[in-house]
Amino acid sequence: MDSLGLFILLMLLCLQWTAAHAAEDTPWTYKGLVGQSEWSQYFPACGGTSQSPVDVMTTQTKYDPNLIPLTPLGYGQHGNNPFTLHNNGHTVVIELPDWMGIGGLPWLFTAAQMHLHWGSGGPSHGGSEHTINGLSADAELHVVHYNSELYPNMSTAMTKRDGLAVLGVLIVTGEETNPGFNNIINYLSRVRHADQKVFIPAFDIQSLLPQDLGRYYRYNGSLTTPPCYQSVIWSVFHERVQISKAQLLKMETLLYSTKSEEPERMLLQDNYRATQPLNHRVVFASFTAESGKELSSGEVTAIVIGVMCGCVGLAVIVRFIVKTIRFFKLLHHETVAVNSSTSSWDVLHNNRPAPMPRMKEPEKAKEKKQDLALNSTSAGERKDEPSASPQTEP
Ligand SMILES: *[C@@H]1O[C@H](CO)[C@@H](O)[C@H](O)[C@H]1NC(C)=O
Ligand SMILES: *[C@@H]1O[C@H](CO)[C@@H](O)[C@H](O)[C@H]1NC(C)=O
Repeated sequence: MDSLGLFILLMLLCLQWTAAHAAEDTPWTYKGLVGQSEWSQYFPACGGTSQSPVDVMTTQTKYDPNLIPLTPLGYGQHGNNPFTLHNNGHTVVIELPDWMGIGGLPWLFTAAQMHLHWGSGGPSHGGSEHTINGLSADAELHVVHYNSELYPNMSTAMTKRDGLAVLGVLIVTGEETNPGFNNIINYLSRVRHADQKVFIPAFDIQSLLPQDLGRYYRYNGSLTTPPCYQSVIWSVFHERVQISKAQLLKMETLLYSTKSEEPERMLLQDNYRATQPLNHRVVFASFTAESGKELSSGEVTAIVIGVMCGCVGLAVIVRFIVKTIRFFKLLHHETVAVNSSTSSWDVLHNNRPAPMPRMKEPEKAKEKKQDLALNSTSAGERKDEPSASPQTEP
């Protein structure tokens, strides 16, 4: 009986172990048999109540003045060692060196990796994971960090509360090529098949981020892929980055989700998860609606014209003041010369009074000439003066 009991127990343990590991190793996809709606059957956390991505409804966000600008640490000091670019069948990943990190969060977070999500239909056909007011961007970059103050490594941190900090960068399509993103996109053709890896030259990771690291949305969420652990402090930047249409098309069409030995090739496309319910959560914003408002081109033009008019006005006022001062100075000089034998010049230079009268003549002439020049340039402004337009008189 005892040995039978032990046998059954061992069998159960063994079954449980294989079941758990079978689940962990389940080959998941975005669509199909183990598509996103089936993830939670194999990865229970995917059915949790704090999942990512989410739709950020800007009117429902809560301003939090404690959300200070995020500071990339060592993003530019990539060193001499190359980065590894890896097609893992779900996305393209770059492992990041552990001296890179992110500041501005309640703990120090160490960089681990970054990867991308994209669509399939070219510009304006979705591809980002997070959406703002229901609108998708064309792609999304995730820079993943783990909490190195609380946890020893990435694999431990990813299962724990406040274990990860991910930066989300929304990517849209525009006219110009983004040179930062070419550091990745130019090498995609070398990792077309799943499981392929290649070394690429190290580059400045900050060149992939938006300029404004002060305005972002913050919420508690999860990994957006199985096993969907709810361990992520999300920061989704308000400013989007722009890549060219050609860059987006390369991202969308160069990679396969299948391995090189597989007979049927499948393009790696639409590797983004649908937005998940917010449930009890609040999305915080590091900025208020006013400061977050983007200026339209019309408003920018109005501001530029306003500033220019202001400058011209200031210049006119300054010139008027200078002229007035000069006029009174001149008046003062002449009055002094007529009424007194000791001018201000004499007072200042009373140790050598002799050359005074001869020095004064060219000095005065020069000032008069300057004044004449000023008068001629401003003649147009003084239309009310009768002497300015003698010919038009009847
Ligand atoms: C991470 O840390 C845990 C706890 O110290 C350890 O058991 C595990 O082997 C480490 N994993 C890696 C990949 O280093
Ligand atoms: C995330 O969860 C932690 C722990 O429950 C909480 O202290 C923190 O305020 C939450 N942060 C956000 C942005 O909701």
